[in-house]
Amino acid sequence: MKKFVAILLALTLALSLVACGGAASSAPASEAASGSDSEPAAETGLTTVNPGKLTMSTNAAFPPYEMTTDSGDFEGIDVEVAAAIAEKLGLELQIDDMDFDAALLAAQQGKSDMVMAGVTVTEDRLKVMDFSDSYATGIQSIIVPEGSEIASVEDLAGHLIGTQRGTTGYIYCSDEFGEDSVIAYDNGLTAVQALNNGQVDCVVIDNAPAQEFVAANPGLVILDTEYAVEDYAIGMAKGNTELVEAVNAALAELIADGTVQAIVDKYISAN
Ligand code: ARG
Repeated sequence: MKKFVAILLALTLALSLVACGGAASSAPASEAASGSDSEPAAETGLTTVNPGKLTMSTNAAFPPYEMTTDSGDFEGIDVEVAAAIAEKLGLELQIDDMDFDAALLAAQQGKSDMVMAGVTVTEDRLKVMDFSDSYATGIQSIIVPEGSEIASVEDLAGHLIGTQRGTTGYIYCSDEFGEDSVIAYDNGLTAVQALNNGQVDCVVIDNAPAQEFVAANPGLVILDTEYAVEDYAIGMAKGNTELVEAVNAALAELIADGTVQAIVDKYISAN
């Protein structure tokens, strides 16, 4: 599988560079901050986009990593880990919700301090942004309607694949099966709705949101097969070594003391 991923990465280099630098999409900056109930701690001397704040760009339509509550607050694994990092850095977490490709670009261009959105580390992205150490593993999964003739990755050929724009799912599939075979939707949920409506034959998306979408949509199933195994990390502007080091130090402490695992366990029941 590793080799497969490596080959995919190499093959998709050019494509992803285009994707990473991709067209601007609307990026409404929601001011709603999330629950860091920490009182700002010691000054870290870090220069951030908004003084005193750690500004995180994300796409909060990716449960259980980032989503909104009924009351419009942000929650999820990334949201809580980010809040814990911000607390350690003595900063207030501010979350800006936007399209996924815009969230990547915001960090890349220094408009946000970091993108935390279940972001997969890829060789192409490493060319345009820096990443923290990894804090989670992701798997690209395939969602199909019950009884679908698609039973494996190989069966994807000749079928219409739904993905979220700018994601590794889109990049891998368009690279392997051709752009005409892949439809890019604004987010995972709209891709799943298109599957429900018969507009696509399957959806390729990260396994954790796939589980949530399938649980909420009777008649859909996730294939056993793993399309790709990936590392999630926090993306930051290239060359912002000071911030990368500070985030890594905070993350290391939060991993070592079990905080990250406790947050993951809260949202993903072990099975
Ligand atoms: N892991 C995939 C990627 O990095 C998808 C992430 C999508 N995240 C989101 N919040 N919508 O391309």
